[in-house]
Amino acid sequence: MANFQALLLALFISAVAMNQCFVGAMLSKSMYVNWGAHHSTISGNSEDVQLVLDQTSGSAVKSKRAFLFGSVEMLIKLVPGNSAGTVTAYYLSSTGDKHDEIDYEFLGNVSGQPYIVHTNIYTQGNGSREQQFYLWFDPTADFHNYTIHWNPTSVVWYIDNIPIRVFRNYEKEGIAFPNKQGMRVHSSLWNADNWATRGGLDKIDWNSAPFIAKLRRFRARACKWDGPVSINQCASQSRANWWTSPAYSQLSNSKMAQMKSVRDKFMIYDYCKDTKRFNGKMPAECFKPHF
Ligand SMILES: *[C@@H]1O[C@H](CO)[C@@H](O)[C@H](O)[C@H]1NC(C)=O
Ligand SMILES: *[C@@H]1O[C@H](CO)[C@@H](O)[C@H](O)[C@H]1NC(C)=O
Ligand SMILES: *[C@@H]1O[C@H](CO)[C@@H](O)[C@H](O)[C@H]1NC(C)=O
Repeated sequence: MANFQALLLALFISAVAMNQCFVGAMLSKSMYVNWGAHHSTISGNSEDVQLVLDQTSGSAVKSKRAFLFGSVEMLIKLVPGNSAGTVTAYYLSSTGDKHDEIDYEFLGNVSGQPYIVHTNIYTQGNGSREQQFYLWFDPTADFHNYTIHWNPTSVVWYIDNIPIRVFRNYEKEGIAFPNKQGMRVHSSLWNADNWATRGGLDKIDWNSAPFIAKLRRFRARACKWDGPVSINQCASQSRANWWTSPAYSQLSNSKMAQMKSVRDKFMIYDYCKDTKRFNGKMPAECFKPHF
């Protein structure tokens, strides 16, 4: 009897655990348009969405659910041609003034000039952790895989399976880590011509409008956020919480080598090297290993 009860309990626990892990099915079921709906739609039964920017407005989509830990993937094809002044953003964010946020922003450019991939992370409302990169491919020619992997030990930004940046959990050393608030997934396309391209020198050319960025195959293989109860549920080590397995607590040597190579060749800004900006008082995580 005791064994039977234990078995039932085990089944119950694993059912609860399984239930936490969410796999976003169709983009149309897991996201909705929350800005610019008059010109951006998620087509009925499809995995695709077009974000549109014209003189009337930009547009944005948002996930219906919030998540805490897991892997969030999106295939994105950026605005082609003269995209100067446009920004396509893809990010996770919680709400409130002590919010957490993990960002990808793609700063457009005039035809033939490179996009900048801008990354940042806010923890407990504190940001100012920008790192920027050029890409090793034309991001407007095809869809590429931009993934944010996030677990209790680290946040990793991936492009086509190559890690480009890691933010590790140094909470014990007093550096806040995003592990207490659920975040929704957002993507948007907007006019940022006051700063985006060559620091605001290149304005949007409305003759090239409408600007269109394409999103495809959104997947959140992630833990459902159901309020503070999720903090322990999503962080606990279990088979269902695959993101907590030791394999995901540190990059493999080959992934680290890939990351180093990309950062050596394509990184164009690193807040940790900007001593002028921080007046010599660098953020504490800049002195820690980043992998
Ligand atoms: C946020 O940044 C401010 C200013 O740098 C700092 O005083 C504060 O301790 C930081 N808060 C957290 C939670 O890291
Ligand atoms: C996208 O990249 C992530 C991280 O490397 C990977 O887990 C996932 O399988 C990739 N998805 C596709 C469709 O290639
Ligand atoms: C745009 O192109 C110019 C010239 O190549 C370059 O300096 C700049 O970094 C590029 N990207 C942005 C977003 O300004």
